[in-house]
Amino acid sequence: MTDRPTDLFVDGTWRPAASGRRFDVHDPATGEVIASVADAGAEDALAALEAAHRAQAPWGRTPTRVRAEILRRAFDALTARSEEFARLITAEMGKPLAESRAEVAYGAEFLRWFSEEAPRISGRYLEAPDGANRLLVRKRPVGPCLLITPWNFPIAMATRKIAPAIAAGCTMVLKPADLTPLTSLLFTELLAEVGLPDGVLNVVTTTDPAAISGPLLADERLRKLSFTGSTPVGRRLIAASADRVLKVSMELGGNAPFVVCADADVDAAVEGAVVAKMRNGGEACVAANRLLVHRSVAEEFTAKLAARLSAFVVGPGDAPGTTLGPLIDERSRAKVAGLVDDAVAAGATVLTGGSVPEGPGWFYPPTVLADVRPEMTIANEEIFGPVAPVLVFDTEEEAVALANASEFGLVSFVFTRDLDRALRLSERLEAGMIGINTGVVSNPAAPFGGVKASGLGREGGAEGIEEYLETIYVGIRDPYATAEAGVA
Ligand code: SIN
Repeated sequence: MTDRPTDLFVDGTWRPAASGRRFDVHDPATGEVIASVADAGAEDALAALEAAHRAQAPWGRTPTRVRAEILRRAFDALTARSEEFARLITAEMGKPLAESRAEVAYGAEFLRWFSEEAPRISGRYLEAPDGANRLLVRKRPVGPCLLITPWNFPIAMATRKIAPAIAAGCTMVLKPADLTPLTSLLFTELLAEVGLPDGVLNVVTTTDPAAISGPLLADERLRKLSFTGSTPVGRRLIAASADRVLKVSMELGGNAPFVVCADADVDAAVEGAVVAKMRNGGEACVAANRLLVHRSVAEEFTAKLAARLSAFVVGPGDAPGTTLGPLIDERSRAKVAGLVDDAVAAGATVLTGGSVPEGPGWFYPPTVLADVRPEMTIANEEIFGPVAPVLVFDTEEEAVALANASEFGLVSFVFTRDLDRALRLSERLEAGMIGINTGVVSNPAAPFGGVKASGLGREGGAEGIEEYLETIYVGIRDPYATAEAGVA
């Protein structure tokens, strides 16, 4: 992997960190070092912002069709190189190759979707109701953005921010997660190859995020922050953005309830739960975190879920047959194991999994816990691992109360065959996204995002580009006023 980019990308040029420092990237399946990457500091970050600032005016005036065609070429190139990107994602993040391929397809779709949205940026011209003025409303790019992306979907979370920023005409400083920087760096190279002008996308990799975000958020050249990550970090970044009243988009934590009603098709609910829980090994903010199951179907559902999860093949993501890779690092695995141990000590029953395996890598087995109660820590924290805690409810009222008893509100899943119940629950559950009889809501054409402490703003869909645009209104005196006043 040595010929892949590992330096910073500033103003169209690859360069080492000003300090000369570098950091190691590890394969989570083995712990082995797979690359050494430039470790940026404040000086590098400010150089990246200066490049983004210089590029902003010409880039913002580029015809939307030109921006659309760059995105479309990027979609074609990423799709053509899917296998190369998938292998790199698996190497640095650990997920099975099949999931990495699916992520590349998902990530590429953001490029295609926003290539289609770019030429649709529109405004309006109308008469004020009192007839006195004409109102001209137009959109313009918000300006240079800081994009901070997480490690769990190294390509898709990057394209979900970069594509709408390109479509809107914004320039960027991207800071990918230090655990998985290689995919973003390779994608940056791809964007340059398909014609993205110098300075539009600048990339700084670092082990010291505060050294980057602090000076950038304080700098008047920066106009926007888009962050995907944990709620505690999101809160700190919102506070740091307040002084300059920066436009912020926040895609933060979740604690998704997965509600299985008495009238659900239990087999379909089990399949939905397998996807909602095990996609990305549970390392997703949309992962089902609490399985709330009606007492009448709880035993059947839980037994079938345990059977399905125990059939997962745990191993390195690039090994044939693997369906569950390692967790990202030791800290993540210790957290997951700690939550399970704590639940068991408090009375939960392990139906499958539940203990850390021997050997190298940060593996944790698929785990199903029964007899979980709402006050247990595992029901109140984002697990971010392959653990399914099952809680039982008796009434719809109780299910809604349990589901909404969280500071988070990213996504809720409901399985029921009753249309009225489905619609009623979709209106009562406090979440930005609701999945009805499905375990997947993620879709480039849909507005992804949460309510409550799960975030601000939306990514994807028609809404996604709005995060990178601001609305400008021009008031124009009634054009007939001069004629009526007798002015020639
Ligand atoms: C996330 O976990 O941050 C995003 C998951 C998705 O897009 O499906």
